[in-house]
Amino acid sequence: MAFDHHKYVPFQPLRKTDRRWPDRVIETAPQWCAVDLRDGNQALVKPMSVAQKQRLFELLVKVGFKEIEIGFPAASQPDFDFCRKLIEEDRIPDDVHIQVLTQARPELIARTYEALAGAKRAIVHVYNSTSKVQREQVFGLDREGIKAIAVKGAEVVKAHAAEHPETEWTFQYSPESFTGTELDFAADVIDAVNDVWRPDQGQPVVINLPATVEMATPNVFADQIEWICDRVKYREHISISVHTHNDRGCAVAAAELAVMAGADRVEGTLMGNGERTGNMDLVTAAMNLYSQGVDPKVDFSSMAEITDVVEACTEIPTHPRHPYAGELVFTAFSGSHQDAIRKCLARRAEDDPWEVAYLPIDPRDLGRRYEEVVRINSQSGKGGVAYILERDYNINLPRWLQIEFSKVVQREAESGGGEIDSDTIHRLFEKRYLAVNPDWELKSYDLHRDEEGVYARVSFGVDINLTTLEGRGLGAVEALVAALEKNHEVHIAVEAYDEFALGEGTDANAMACIRLQVDGQPCSAAALAEDTTSATLQALLSALSQKILSPGAQRIADEIAVSLDA
Ligand code: KIV
Ligand code: ZN
Repeated sequence: MAFDHHKYVPFQPLRKTDRRWPDRVIETAPQWCAVDLRDGNQALVKPMSVAQKQRLFELLVKVGFKEIEIGFPAASQPDFDFCRKLIEEDRIPDDVHIQVLTQARPELIARTYEALAGAKRAIVHVYNSTSKVQREQVFGLDREGIKAIAVKGAEVVKAHAAEHPETEWTFQYSPESFTGTELDFAADVIDAVNDVWRPDQGQPVVINLPATVEMATPNVFADQIEWICDRVKYREHISISVHTHNDRGCAVAAAELAVMAGADRVEGTLMGNGERTGNMDLVTAAMNLYSQGVDPKVDFSSMAEITDVVEACTEIPTHPRHPYAGELVFTAFSGSHQDAIRKCLARRAEDDPWEVAYLPIDPRDLGRRYEEVVRINSQSGKGGVAYILERDYNINLPRWLQIEFSKVVQREAESGGGEIDSDTIHRLFEKRYLAVNPDWELKSYDLHRDEEGVYARVSFGVDINLTTLEGRGLGAVEALVAALEKNHEVHIAVEAYDEFALGEGTDANAMACIRLQVDGQPCSAAALAEDTTSATLQALLSALSQKILSPGAQRIADEIAVSLDA
């Protein structure tokens, strides 16, 4: 009974017929304003210390934000102290505007200007709530009463600024809870504030439209923004800003659609920290633009440093699936995804436009490595396993062996229940395919070709018990097969055989892989050696050794499921 949707009233969207924003494309980045140090900070379990704020401020400057809301100095002593510190210690670069928030109350505005004394430039951000629910249930005021608060605030802001002409002032007004405010009333209040500030006479003004609570789908917000942009006075003289929250999980989408609808400026926080479900995430919004070939005007190429600082300052960990920033967002575990990524990366030339399946952007742009892209667990297929062996060990498995070995890895992953790292994959490969039983270790060979084909004389085993066999065939493999068949009274068919030279960085020069049917039963092995003939003969001996009982022989094939604890 508690779960009853009838309790909720659907949001009544604007009936808009002159909608233009759906056809727009964002081609330039909006003016960003980072509000981590105010809205973000106000939402923390443990608000930031002055030292933490300074660290985050420096990061925001480094990333390239030119407008940074640094606090609510009239409401918080640490925010006041931080503001003073930045100004007195001359820590604000000349191309950065600090912004401070205040309610539209004369005494708070006065205190705000105290905090800003001596600033070269600053944005004074004044707000009051305008929504129906706040008017009726929180303030008990009608529309005129609420508008009077805004106008009074605007007047006081202007008067204080006039006393400090040495500072370059920008005024910002937010009709707080804008999304719950009737649009005609929001426009009326905005116009009244601007009639005081007169942006048409040169006063820089930002009108910030907050989705204080996200109440509807992003298209509804975009309609609201387009409506306001079309209706407010002084439009060409003011900057329209949006400040979205994430209650419905669409803060970034709402801000993007709002920019399409005419917004010039977007407020948000790194990683979307903020009240309740958070503010609009600046990382996602800016990187979304970047992925479309638009200069985001901020630089997130050191993403690890950014997440480190944000985590240290907010004490909130970054979700591993956080867009662009999370640990797992460029990782493919699924076999088909790994295969597709591997193929696209292999075909791609350095200067080609980015077009790689499953990777919306190049992870390297954010300081990530391709090594992180393919990670192996029980869901991974042959492609990923082969990719790791090739990338990290120069081992190029033939397709038949990729299929076989991926099953070995999968069984290991299933028994361990988690991820398998590159080192473990390599050790599994060594143990399953490369391990040589001492009784079957190639010691020497003599090959020569005459009119009847190839004659092979091969010695293997431990020195005191060396086995030497002779045989003939069309090639070295056939000759040794003939010798082994005769000696062990078995029938051997070579099902698959591949050899290849190894790249630089390995001791061995060649690798051979072989799959046999011995009396109708499969067995396979690989071998590394200095030359391809040695590798081939050893692979053949190792494969057969799995099927032949001889002193000390191990049935390595049966060990697939044995864990690598040792
Ligand atoms: O979410 C909000 O409405 C705010 C305002 C103060 C802009 O943070
Ligand atoms: Zn907010």
